[in-house]
Amino acid sequence: MNNLILCGFMGCGKTTVGQRLAQLAGMGYLDLDQQIQEENGMPIPQIFAQLGQDHFRRLEHQAIARLAQREGYVVSTGGGALANPQNAAAIDHLHDKVVFLDAPFQVCFDRIRESDRPLVQQNTPEQLRALFDSRRSHYLAAADLKVDASLPVDQVARAVLDALP
Ligand code: S3P
Repeated sequence: MNNLILCGFMGCGKTTVGQRLAQLAGMGYLDLDQQIQEENGMPIPQIFAQLGQDHFRRLEHQAIARLAQREGYVVSTGGGALANPQNAAAIDHLHDKVVFLDAPFQVCFDRIRESDRPLVQQNTPEQLRALFDSRRSHYLAAADLKVDASLPVDQVARAVLDALP
């Protein structure tokens, strides 16, 4: 395994679990959305507003492709990253391990409903639920491992570690 990639819907805990996991495993930590924001000098809502979602998806794909240059990192992705089979295929090619943080829609929604995430701002709760449902099969297909992400952060991180070979 080169890197450990966390995927799942917005609000499943990719960032918080990723940071804890990196601590516990003594690995580096990388947040792809953070990297995209820093490289473009603006927060994600502004990238969506000024450059458009398609442009953001291209930046996201480039950030994933660059993981080939990394080794030994826990990597948090954005919720759309592994919902795209092209990104999943790129990661598969790298032999990185993918972990799906699986939490029910309501758990994720309660964590994101007040946030400024563009997709939360632009969609009704019903539309977000439909997006959640349509993405879940992609996360499952991309993942080597699935853990219950409705538990507290520390438990989720330890469950991932316990399940790794
Ligand atoms: C997105 C999720 C966000 C961020 C962007 C798009 C998505 O990341 O990448 O707003 O398509 O689900 P989080 O999953 O960390 O919120």
